[in-house]
Amino acid sequence: MIFLLSALLVSFIFMFGLRRKNPYPPGPKGYPIIGNMTMMDQLTHRGLAQLSSRYGRAGLLHLTMGKLHIVAVSTPEMAREVLLAQDSVYANRPANDAIVYLTYDRADMAFANYGPFWRQMRKICVMKVFSRKRAESWASVREEVDSTVATVMKSVGQPLNVGELVFALTRNITYRAAFGSFSRDGQDEFVLILQEFSKLFGAFNIADFFPWLGWIHGTEFRKRLAKARASLDGFIDHIIDEHLETREKRNSDRAEKNQGLYEDDMVDELMAFYGENASKGDFNDSSNSSIQLTKDNIKAIIMDVMFGGTETVASAIEWAMAELMNSPAELKKVQQELSDTVGLDRVVQESDLDKLTYLRCAIKETLRLHPPIPLLLHETAADSVLGGYHVPARSRIMINAWAIGRDPSSWEDADVFKPSRFLDGGAPDFKGSNFEFIPFGSGRRSCPGMQLGLYGLELSVAHLLHCFNWELPDGMQPSELDMNDSFGLTAPRATRLVAVPSYRLSCPVPGK
Ligand code: HEM
Repeated sequence: MIFLLSALLVSFIFMFGLRRKNPYPPGPKGYPIIGNMTMMDQLTHRGLAQLSSRYGRAGLLHLTMGKLHIVAVSTPEMAREVLLAQDSVYANRPANDAIVYLTYDRADMAFANYGPFWRQMRKICVMKVFSRKRAESWASVREEVDSTVATVMKSVGQPLNVGELVFALTRNITYRAAFGSFSRDGQDEFVLILQEFSKLFGAFNIADFFPWLGWIHGTEFRKRLAKARASLDGFIDHIIDEHLETREKRNSDRAEKNQGLYEDDMVDELMAFYGENASKGDFNDSSNSSIQLTKDNIKAIIMDVMFGGTETVASAIEWAMAELMNSPAELKKVQQELSDTVGLDRVVQESDLDKLTYLRCAIKETLRLHPPIPLLLHETAADSVLGGYHVPARSRIMINAWAIGRDPSSWEDADVFKPSRFLDGGAPDFKGSNFEFIPFGSGRRSCPGMQLGLYGLELSVAHLLHCFNWELPDGMQPSELDMNDSFGLTAPRATRLVAVPSYRLSCPVPGK
């Protein structure tokens, strides 16, 4: 008995001692049980930046919301620690009950926890879905950008909602890349499903903070979840079945494909790994040949692509246009470069993009000031020590890419839109090794769609600015443009950009 009591005492002292040795990172004092839940509305990029500068230290801020520990990271040094030095502990994703249910128990890549399953999913996606070799995705970007230019032509001389235009553009791009020519008619239905998913992903759930109060989440909410997933099942199952039926024919008819009669879409690429008897547990790190995807995996990956690739790119295009219209001198420089490099007698080609240095600087500057995903959400797999502070297992880590991109110790005139800062060869790049500029994240969980996203972003902005001049409506001055953002999965403009286009080229728009 005495032995048992001493063992308990020793382990208590040991555990308690560990805690005391490393305190939690600094943060505002919370209330008993609920912690800092009264600050819930400040869990945005701007709110966390303010709290960090008031209560944080060394780039770290600690909050508790019920049972949940939250650590906000707001300096490049701490971002490096989390995304590079200790990345294997910090590479999980947080997911609430709704997300787990809607992603078929994390059967996708974006919400899968770090481990063999995620590694295999990422390998397949990087090789087959996001690869530059998948020429069809790149072709869908070009064709949809052309068709957007044709749409703008119809609005010449009239106010045009640029925000809605570019959201429709990126939705069309991802939809085409995912489903090819299949079921284009169903696109409106799919958009409604996506919107409902987006609302459910962000819905407040008391069980995230107090797991024992999970029962409070009403049956109504559960019904809504079930309905949303059933709609997606109905929609994508049908597309998958169509692909299954035609797969045999397609395989035996490669010649037709070679003649360009049909193109493989993302579902085709993923179907190549489909196994009727596959289960999520089949994954291991040993060989490619063992990888088999279930229908749920395929559905969940398609959702990743739709969520990861639509709002992000649209928000960046709209912000780039708004920042340039807000700074007419910068807009003039970008358009002058387009006139000099491409000429007014033709539209921009893919091969021009590399030569459009100033345009690319303007796009980098847009991503610095308005990273489309302002907070990178990670979760810790185990207890760890960060900057000398204790971070418990399963803490939610919010890396504030927005605050890092505006940190005055890394950036001169940090809040000013100044594309020329990127002309300097030594300026930070967004490929992931400069932690003061991480719009695509860095390391294991960084964005796998970066190349495709950048291509859509650069090509769209280049076309919109080369083909058209843009004026603000009703004599509005650039300084009057609302430059506020809103907060959700991404940080789009608070009000849609509306502008009046006029045609700028001396040649007719191709395809008109
Ligand atoms: C301007 C465009 C884009 C930006 C700024 C962007 C940014 C990001 C960021 C910041 C992350 C999270 C990194 C982290 O947690 O550390 C991410 C992840 C991801 N992105 Fe993108 N993205 C863009 C375009 C795209 C596109 C076009 C696609 C797909 C077609 C895509 C698919 C994904 C996926 C699937 C993930 C999750 C990766 C994982 O968890 O392993 N993104 N992106």
